[in-house]
Amino acid sequence: MRIEHLRLRGFRCYAAAEATFAPGLTAVVGANGAGKTSLLEAVHFTLAGYSPRTSSETRCIRQGDAFFRLEARAVSGGQERSTTAALQAGEPRRLTLDAKPIRSVAAFAVAFECLVFLPERLAVVQRAPAIRRAYLDRAVVRADPAHARETAAYGRALAQRNAALRRVRAGAATAASLDPWDERLATHGSAIIEGRARLCAALAAPFAEVLRDLGGGPGAALRYAPRVGAAELAGALAERRSRDIERAVTGTGPHLDDIALAEGGRELRAFGSQGEQRTAVLALLLAEARLVTERLGEAPVLLLDDVFSELDADRRRRLIMVVRELGQAIVTTTEREHLPAPPDTLLTVRAGTVTMSV
Ligand SMILES: Nc1ncnc2c1ncn2[C@@H]1O[C@H](COP(=O)(O)OP(=O)(O)OP(=O)(O)O)[C@@H](O)[C@H]1O
Ligand SMILES: [Mg+2]
Repeated sequence: MRIEHLRLRGFRCYAAAEATFAPGLTAVVGANGAGKTSLLEAVHFTLAGYSPRTSSETRCIRQGDAFFRLEARAVSGGQERSTTAALQAGEPRRLTLDAKPIRSVAAFAVAFECLVFLPERLAVVQRAPAIRRAYLDRAVVRADPAHARETAAYGRALAQRNAALRRVRAGAATAASLDPWDERLATHGSAIIEGRARLCAALAAPFAEVLRDLGGGPGAALRYAPRVGAAELAGALAERRSRDIERAVTGTGPHLDDIALAEGGRELRAFGSQGEQRTAVLALLLAEARLVTERLGEAPVLLLDDVFSELDADRRRRLIMVVRELGQAIVTTTEREHLPAPPDTLLTVRAGTVTMSV
């Protein structure tokens, strides 16, 4: 899978620009604020149908412009595809695939796989369990789009059960009014636990392998240990019911789980150095890229923003080796010297322009 060409109009700092990408490694080099992340964001927009950076997508419209429009040419499954994404303030975004209007981004997910690392993704290792759960659930959905319904249904049932718990505690409803919510939580909750467990089981080995390839130590582990197993969830909800009524919150279930990421037997969140944490997030992404490649017989497009900072020269070299083996990658950096080897294409961005140099 690869993107060949992108045309931007009115997007972030780009009034009008275009870029051609190599099938292998494209490096995007430029100073702070030059437009590197914006270029990756635009690529993601045309391959995935949305911004990986913000949910307020009108921010992508260049200040002073009325709309943005992106056009891309890509190759997927051996076929040339064309996509466009456009947005005007106050209107829904408009997407097309092969010149046909697309309503939901799900159609893009079927046509392309695009995995992105942005510096804020470090939160997956550094921050609270909720961020790891959300990341993992999105990865489960990428592998099995139908799973999105389970996560949404579970979230709704959880909110409704918590509201019901408050009513029961206030004496405005009977404990039996909780039954339907318990049942839904158990059904969708088990599906979530099973989905996460399946993905983690598949990711664990490639994660450890990639982490080693990237220069990490031994003893890498990605472990999902749900506090309640899928089969025990219904029983656990019943067993907790009176305590849940007292506290008016649901005290068990996959919404409280964590995913353990460790290296050398130490939890990365608490003990990892900056470089180790960054390497681990990259390993997670590249491990998923390997799974995608196995599943589709084709590698996803990798978008790696500012990956070299905090990595030593050896880790930078290793990272590029791993990335090159996978397929197409677009990597940004402020320092050309951080590139361990010449890329296939070098794009220099400066004040809203993209120049290709060889
Ligand atoms: N809607 C917009 N209209 C105009 N300019 C914008 C808009 N959104 C962002 N910018 C500007 O675009 C420039 C490029 O931002 P971008 O995040 O792409 O830079 P970068 O090259 O990734 O920088 P860094 O190395 O600091 O990460 C910034 O100066 C930013 O303020
Ligand atoms: Mg940036």
